[in-house]
Amino acid sequence: MSGHSQWKTSTGFILASAGSAIGLGAMWKFPYMAGIYGGGAFLLMFLIFTIFVGLPLLIMEFTVGKMGRTYTTQIYKKLTGKKWLNIIGWNGNLAVFILFGFYSVIGGWIIIYIGYVIAQIAIFKSSTLTNIQFETIISNPWLTVLGQGIFILITMVIVMLGVEKGLEKASKIMMPLLFIFLIIVVAQSLTLEGALEGVRYILQPRVEDMSIQGVLFALGQSFFTLSLGTTGMITYASYAPKNMTIKSSALSIVVMNILISVLAGLAIFPALKTFGYQPQEGPGLLFKVLPLVFSEMTFGTFFYFIFLLLFLFAALTSSISLLELNVSNFTKNDNSKRQKVAIIGSILVFIISIPATLSLSSLSHLRFGAGTIFDNMDFIVSNILMPLGALGTTLVVGQLLDKKLLKESFGKDKFNLFLPWYYLIKFIMPIVIILVFIVQLF
Ligand code: TRP
Repeated sequence: MSGHSQWKTSTGFILASAGSAIGLGAMWKFPYMAGIYGGGAFLLMFLIFTIFVGLPLLIMEFTVGKMGRTYTTQIYKKLTGKKWLNIIGWNGNLAVFILFGFYSVIGGWIIIYIGYVIAQIAIFKSSTLTNIQFETIISNPWLTVLGQGIFILITMVIVMLGVEKGLEKASKIMMPLLFIFLIIVVAQSLTLEGALEGVRYILQPRVEDMSIQGVLFALGQSFFTLSLGTTGMITYASYAPKNMTIKSSALSIVVMNILISVLAGLAIFPALKTFGYQPQEGPGLLFKVLPLVFSEMTFGTFFYFIFLLLFLFAALTSSISLLELNVSNFTKNDNSKRQKVAIIGSILVFIISIPATLSLSSLSHLRFGAGTIFDNMDFIVSNILMPLGALGTTLVVGQLLDKKLLKESFGKDKFNLFLPWYYLIKFIMPIVIILVFIVQLF
């Protein structure tokens, strides 16, 4: 994005914000979180939160961006006249910085897997996927650090060159393709032995599997997949043309995220029994199971390769916006600083991504708070900084902004949704988020 530029069409905005929101959250994080926190129980909580909390908050962020039209460490002052409220923007900035740190670990795994499949075909002239050893890969610190370095580097180059627009166009093809691929994997997975058990695990909510912790993580997952509270969505909406349609854009992002999450779950859980895995595998779940599912297909290696490229694409459209957020806040729309800021930001992210990676191998014994260093980075972002940022924005919108202006920005709607939405944001949402914080403390 050059300067505080605008997309010419509403489609550009939808593609970019969908690209930013849909990424590792739905495909990689949802299945493994659902695996740990009760399958169907987690899915149910996630659906409730995504629809009743996530969607209104996403509409709120779009509204704020549309009203403010500037970078997010300035937008709160611009809208309220109170400079200290820009701290909400800085909170988001910190959140995406840490987020990029552990996001790149997973992005790195995708790169390593791509490299592995290429080597397998080109050098070993073999096309089996069954010998991809996840544990061997992640226990090799040089390899994983190299993988995430490459992932960060690709992100950096794209942001430096400012060629995101090309990617948005490409996502018109890549995203539907990813979707089709997921459906194929689900179909394959469902043919495996014991598939029904897995389907039941992910779709059937069992009350005994519900825990307070699961509820909290389901809320965190809604925040994560919809990029809420990081001000990322505010940024994208601030670039959008005036005639953008806030509600339908938000709704389509929510629906796509839910669909991809459920499909990813249905791709993985039915396959667990056949390949002898437990749902509680953790962050490696998708990487352990999918190669095995693909290996059961004709031309499986080739299809897996394409799938990995699409998966990488989805991850990159998110990581680009993570870096872009920092770049737009630090360059303050002065494009001459763009390259320098992108490079420095990427180097810093690379540095903090190293302990995140090592905490999954040589430092895995180091556990505190939410678990490993990786888990703690995720927890700080998804369960603290993102909800805090969202709380701050709800308070600003509900208590300080002019209702008339908000209504204007919210836009016309057939169903008179403005008032219910406004009161939800003004009275109920802050209480819900504060309650979640209190529960979390105990
Ligand atoms: N929603 C992204 C995903 O699911 C992750 C994310 C969270 C994000 N906050 C963000 C991406 C802010 C870009 C900007 O993968």
